[in-house]
Amino acid sequence: MRKYIVAGNWKMNKRLSEGVRLAEEINVAVEKAGALKCDVVIAPPFLHLTEVSKAVGNKVSVAAQNCAAEASGAYTGEVSASMLQSAGIASVIIGHSERRTFYGETDAVLAKKTGQALSCGLKVIFCIGEELSQRDNGRYFDIVKSQIENGLFHLSADEWKNIVIAYEPVWAIGTGRTATSAQAQEVHAFIRQTIAGKYGQPSADDTTILYGGSCNENNAKELFAQPDIDGGLIGGASLTAEKFIGIVTAF
Ligand code: 13P
Repeated sequence: MRKYIVAGNWKMNKRLSEGVRLAEEINVAVEKAGALKCDVVIAPPFLHLTEVSKAVGNKVSVAAQNCAAEASGAYTGEVSASMLQSAGIASVIIGHSERRTFYGETDAVLAKKTGQALSCGLKVIFCIGEELSQRDNGRYFDIVKSQIENGLFHLSADEWKNIVIAYEPVWAIGTGRTATSAQAQEVHAFIRQTIAGKYGQPSADDTTILYGGSCNENNAKELFAQPDIDGGLIGGASLTAEKFIGIVTAF
């Protein structure tokens, strides 16, 4: 069954005490909101994961923003998927455009990270999306297709069940320039069709595909009303409990 998800990616924001406070505020707001149509996920920095996990109840789950491509060993500064699993973390964001751009993470590296995460029992929120020049020259379908094929299509149908896709056009991230609901829906439908071509229509219909990029409490409702948009991966607007809950309740 396809699930609706709203996930907050805090990126490199909030000192520890601020992060715990935000998690507590989100938890209270989620409890107050009653029955929700979506799962709620927050992804704080590594350092905050354990404390933030203690600050939320069972209606909010905690994800990491990254994991290592290797299982263990002499990789200074890295955090393995197994460590995340041992800390009770259920899922991990892989392939965010900031990781691809600032840290040179290639499709091959992301495929390895995904393999590590899945083998440790984590779910993966796998990010894809084109840059502005690729949108302008009409190559965006080719770009998202190759990111999915190269990053994920080595997975078995069984492994695929633990994958969530996040379509985040790079030109919409942190710019205030969100994709229109029609632009987002067009790409989401294409992504679902691409998945169907590999894993079959039922698997594609069951796959959660999130939109990310300047999604906020004002535009979420229209975006989430699209048939192939199953929620959002939220940056800036996830750093304030009030805004984030406005998105969580936008279905
Ligand atoms: P913004 O919501 O700040 O545009 O960030 C989106 C994003 O990158 C989420 O991963």
